[in-house]
Order: sequence, then structure tokens, then C-alpha cells
Amino acid sequence: MPKVSIIGAGNVGATAAFVILMKKLADVVMVDIVDAVKGKALDIQQAGTIENIQNTIIGTKNYEEIKNSDIVVITAGKPRTPDMTREDLLETNWKIVKSILEEVKKHCPDAILIMVTNPLDLLVNLVIKQGFNPKKVIGQSGVLDSARFKTFLGKNSEGMVIGYHSDDMIPLISTAKINGKPITEVLTKEQINQIIERTRKGGKEIGNLIGTTAYYAPGAAIAQMTKAILNDTNEIIPCCVKVDGQYQITETCLGLPCKLNKQGAEIIEIPLSQEELNQLKESVKKRK
Ligand code: LAC
Repeated sequence: MPKVSIIGAGNVGATAAFVILMKKLADVVMVDIVDAVKGKALDIQQAGTIENIQNTIIGTKNYEEIKNSDIVVITAGKPRTPDMTREDLLETNWKIVKSILEEVKKHCPDAILIMVTNPLDLLVNLVIKQGFNPKKVIGQSGVLDSARFKTFLGKNSEGMVIGYHSDDMIPLISTAKINGKPITEVLTKEQINQIIERTRKGGKEIGNLIGTTAYYAPGAAIAQMTKAILNDTNEIIPCCVKVDGQYQITETCLGLPCKLNKQGAEIIEIPLSQEELNQLKESVKKRK
């Protein structure tokens, strides 16, 4: 049975653990600094029993338990409050993530890392700078942002969001579809613009409503990436990764379509409209 360790058993981490267990993707270890981690794991294990699931989950404060993990998901860190940008969290959360990386290096240096803690793109970059294999450091943001985009497009829609996990993320209009038809044939320009705007502010909308960051969709997004990696599916999923010349971009980490499998993530170049490519390059330039 594959093993997934989730560091940080807050709302996002625990929801990811719940979905992973209910989908029988792996045995799960949740690590946190608070005792609640043990209770949450027990609760999830009992949910599994209801479904006759044989996979195990434990909650622990002891990092030795993450030994031999196939995937380590890092969700630990402070969530942003509604008045904060994701970038405001950098200093605090990097300290937390850095200490976790020491444990990963010690106990399962070959594991694939799914990064979730914000500010996502900046942290993925910093993690890779610590010497981790760039193909194995994969940020979760694109699945979530794309889910928001598709939710707003409505039923039977297809769509992908690339770019930074920030207000200038890029919902791809040229390839989005509703009932198999290009959205430009189904929606007005104004409707499309409203959907782009709502997608970009999708995290804030939920934050304002529930008073903390979203967690059901982020948890499900982590599980989807986990499934593609563990089952070696080669599914094309938007992930935050280190870019190395693809899409005429270098030296940054941002969301792009990636083939996910047991080796990690491989960026795939899909056709973009000139406008989308320009937006992508513009958002990179803005950060340099
Ligand atoms: C969001 C946070 C988790 O977009 O980044 O909901």
C-alpha cells in the first residue's frame, strides 16, 4: 500500500487526509504539533470503517512515522486572514516549511512533495533551492483554481487555470468549453470577464464567507494530484512547478499544465492564444 504523509492537520490537511482515505489511495500519516492530530486521524479512521475501508490513518507528533512515504503533502503554516494577501505569509510560513524539509530529508528524501502552504509559488521556489529535485516538488493551486473556474462556468464545462496562485492567475479562455462548445460561442464577453474576475478572487470569496481559507476543494485537489502520482496515470493537471524554458519562461515557479506520474511532474506545452501567452509573460515580468 502506498504511503502519504500530510504535514499539518488543519482544515486543509485533514480534509485531504479524509478524501485520500475515502478513495483508498494510500495509508495516511498526519503529523502536527498539536494533540488534535490524533483525534482527527481516529475520526477519519472511523469514517473509513463505515465504508469498510482497510487503509489505515494515524495522527502523530513524531516525524519518524513519515519514513518511506511515497508522497509528503505540506499544508502546515499560517492561513491568511481576509485582510491578508498570500504573500504576506512568506516569512512566517517559510520558517515552518524549512523545518519540515529537514525532517523530510532525514526520513524520506525521495518522496514527492506536494506543496500547499501559501504563498505557494514562492515557497515552491524556496523548497527547490534547498536541493530537492524540481520534478518532485509540485505545488497545488491549479487544480483548485481550475475547479473554481469550472464551477462558475457551470455544468459540463472544461477549463484550466495557469499562472501564479494570485490575483493575476490566468483562466484559459481559448480552450474552455461548455457542453463541448467554446465558451466564446456560449457566453458574452461580459459574462466571461465576470467569471475570470470571480475565479481570480475565488479564495477571497470563500475566506470572507467562512472567516478562514477554503479547505474542502483544496483537500479534494490534493487527493486528485495524489491519485495521478500514485496510480502513475500521466494525467495532465495544472500544477505549480519550476519552469525551465517552457512557454518562453525561465527562473520562476508558477502553474502550468503538467503530466503527473510516479516520477513527479513534467510540464506539457499546450497551445495558448497570443493574449494568454502575453498575460503569462507579463505576470512573470511583474515579479522580476
Ligand atoms: C485559496 C487559498 C487556500 O485559494 O490559497 O483558497
